[in-house]
Amino acid sequence: MDLSVHTGSLAELATPALVVSVFYDETRTVGPVAAVDRAMGGFLRELLDSGEITGKEGEVTVLHTRGAIAADRIAVVGLGKRATFDLVRARKAAAAAATELLKRKVPAFHSVVHGRGVLGEAPDVLAEATVEGTLLGAYSFDRYKSHAIAEDKERRKATLESFGLVDGARGGARALREGLRRGGLLAEATNYARDLGNAPGNEITPAALADAATTLAREVGLEVEVLGPAEMAERGMGALLAVARGSAQEPRLIVLRHRGGGRQAPYALVGKAITFDSGGISIKPAQNMEEMKFDKCGGCAVLGAMRGVARLELPLNVVGVVPSAENLPSATAYKPGDILTASSGKTIEVVNTDAEGRLILADALTYACGLQPRAIIDFATLTGACVVALGKHCSGVLGNDQGLIDDLVDAGERTGDRAWQLPLWPVYTEQIRSDYADIKNSGGREGGAITAAAFLEAFVDGVPWAHFDIAGTAWRTRPAAEGAVGATGVGVRLILEYLRAQAET
Ligand code: BES
Ligand code: MN
Ligand code: ZN
Repeated sequence: MDLSVHTGSLAELATPALVVSVFYDETRTVGPVAAVDRAMGGFLRELLDSGEITGKEGEVTVLHTRGAIAADRIAVVGLGKRATFDLVRARKAAAAAATELLKRKVPAFHSVVHGRGVLGEAPDVLAEATVEGTLLGAYSFDRYKSHAIAEDKERRKATLESFGLVDGARGGARALREGLRRGGLLAEATNYARDLGNAPGNEITPAALADAATTLAREVGLEVEVLGPAEMAERGMGALLAVARGSAQEPRLIVLRHRGGGRQAPYALVGKAITFDSGGISIKPAQNMEEMKFDKCGGCAVLGAMRGVARLELPLNVVGVVPSAENLPSATAYKPGDILTASSGKTIEVVNTDAEGRLILADALTYACGLQPRAIIDFATLTGACVVALGKHCSGVLGNDQGLIDDLVDAGERTGDRAWQLPLWPVYTEQIRSDYADIKNSGGREGGAITAAAFLEAFVDGVPWAHFDIAGTAWRTRPAAEGAVGATGVGVRLILEYLRAQAET
């Protein structure tokens, strides 16, 4: 994929398609594209005046220019109202334009920098958002589509081959090029996480995920260490091992290290990677069970974030810790009533084998605490209860350090990975008290997202920690402006935004 920056006259740029943008409440003017409109004899103005182009969020109008300007087509994308316009909407507009052009099999195009001269953001930040949105919108997962079905082939998006930013003002090229580079890296890290998340359970087993992480490490320059069952047994990781016992697939604990911060304490990122969650002996209903291939998306977010951390060469130490197992019922599976000993020494009564995520995270969090990190941030498709509480428009976030949570929520706000805090009061811990062990792995239906976090908290020892429940946000079943059906890559850009801010302070 080819990315470039052009400055100079928009009307003179030869390209298969030129993307320009307009606001909803200011359609009388065509702003920075006035020159293009003039060259087109007022054609855009006419469509705006007639109301055929409204500038509504997500609206994309593609017109053939028939030689009026150097571009073959012009795509006009709506930015919504100026008053509510922000970086998230700039990305969405870019994504909507990319989706529409690729559906029309236009694999190469250029775009103005959305919000340039309007938002108080620096040009490189706006360029970054435009590129990021474009590449996120261009994403598709069609590795498993053979060419057997013709309609499918027609409906499918073309692959983006080349994208450029255009800017009327000469002189800003350096900032735009920097934004282009960063936006490209951020989107690539997110799309990498999406690809892993979308891959089915028969392809991505825990061992295959560890292989992917090893390849990633070699490719971008990270240190990698992979623990198998023997190393886990040595470390007493009885919770992670128990979950894996029902499957013929061995578990893995993947550890990736980026060393960019000298002798400073690292940030630890932890991600749940259940490559398929059947529920185990406490088996799930068949309806939608196929979606449980996405139960690895927390781990995929951590791998994607580590890719971004390396590529951005952040001046920080960051460790990614990804416990991975498959949760199946079998003659060797762990059972309700079993009592496990985790690597921290705490004993856990299993009351539901479908509450497996918190078990593998218990050992991963203990491992992360051993690194004496500045903070631990974990991502997990942990509870259906979180989806009931918040729906699919934001993740749940809980933790033991309000400053950390505030910074993370902020980063989510800026990137569009929105998160909403739930309380983690000590009173919730009563629900996971066990009669037979130190703690039990389910607190029942009431406040399920919170009692799950309370369970995790029991394995975080004196470290600032935040937990994201991404059960509702890790994948989507209907297409949206921001991306196709399937894994969303939620968390990747939030983490990278947060860590970039940390690197600057
Ligand atoms: N992976 C699921 C959570 C989940 C459910 C994510 C639906 C996305 C959509 C998790 O392992 C699980 O099964 N949690 C149980 C916990 C319960 C047994 C305490 C749940 O949410 O029902
Ligand atoms: Mn489960
Ligand atoms: Zn699960």
